[in-house]
Amino acid sequence: MAETGKALHNPLGLLAELTHRCPLGCPYCSNPLALDPRQDELDTPTWARVFAEAAGLGVLQVHLSGGEPGARRDLADLVAAARSAGLYSNLITSAVGITADTLRQLADTGLDHVQISIQDNTPESADRIAGYAGAFARKQALAAEVVRLKIPLTVNAVMHRANIDHLGDMVALALWLGASRVEIAHAQYYGWALKNRAALMPTTDQVKRAAAEVETLRTRHRGEIVIDAVVPDYHARLPKPCVGGWGRRSLNVTPAGKVLPCHAAETIPGLEFWSVREHSLADIWANSPAFNAFRGTAWMREPCRSCARRDVDFGGCRCQAFALTGDARATDPVCHLAPEHDKVAALAAEQHDEPYTYRRM
Ligand code: SF4
Ligand code: FES
Repeated sequence: MAETGKALHNPLGLLAELTHRCPLGCPYCSNPLALDPRQDELDTPTWARVFAEAAGLGVLQVHLSGGEPGARRDLADLVAAARSAGLYSNLITSAVGITADTLRQLADTGLDHVQISIQDNTPESADRIAGYAGAFARKQALAAEVVRLKIPLTVNAVMHRANIDHLGDMVALALWLGASRVEIAHAQYYGWALKNRAALMPTTDQVKRAAAEVETLRTRHRGEIVIDAVVPDYHARLPKPCVGGWGRRSLNVTPAGKVLPCHAAETIPGLEFWSVREHSLADIWANSPAFNAFRGTAWMREPCRSCARRDVDFGGCRCQAFALTGDARATDPVCHLAPEHDKVAALAAEQHDEPYTYRRM
């Protein structure tokens, strides 16, 4: 069906940002500059209500994320609430802060899937990137526990200039850890990551080599591990259909209860977000100004407005369009048809070997 208006779809995924607290200091963190403090975090019953309302809206999966969700003392209760709402639960963790005991409790309460991030293939480099000594060893230990408990494991590897040449070794590490899936996710330059863009940006040659390597690895490891990978934004010709289209397939709830169409939506000024403290999720999904701002295609400008791909990529990423042009309605400059596409090429060529600005809460 062509989407010209604001057709209301059912959301399928809920990203529950349980807390912004996190022990790591990753320079590519895409959380906003202003983090929600612990005292503003939603309590257990409110999250349980949100999960039940999400299931009522059609959501199938909840991603328990952060920050580091292990910082929440009630994590097992939250997993139980997701289970009783009938949601498939995926824990997205740095592995630092989740002990073997906690994991066993989570497994007992019905956790369905675990995703662990790795920063590189050696302890020295991985710990340097994470800004946390000993993180690599703890990730290995938790991954072993996940596999021992027979919970499906995904390894998430955020790629950038310092580790992209180790892509093959990182996939080998994911295999060795027992992961059934590895997600090669390139750094996205929103929120904190924007501060480190020139320090993180890979070169065009690195990106080309990595793309070829992904194809080789997919062939070599077919049937052993699923390798998910896309071309990084600044080196692509066409933009990604960010979050499956604004207000179309997913929603994010922040630690303090604001509901966002994507995790970086607060970087766009002037949007009005509603909170689960005052509204039901169904009301927010259908009626909140932020969700309706870029729903459908009627808000688009040229060249998106008359482009055949407007129902395929939805004009790309609104947060990236704003970050790069100052106008959230602009065509995502990653698109080769965008008037400001040249800016992206110039930024992709900007590499500075400067120290990372680590994220510290
Ligand atoms: Fe997508 Fe807009 Fe580019 Fe067309 S012009 S490919 S809709 S971003
Ligand atoms: Fe907000 Fe892409 S991250 S629309």
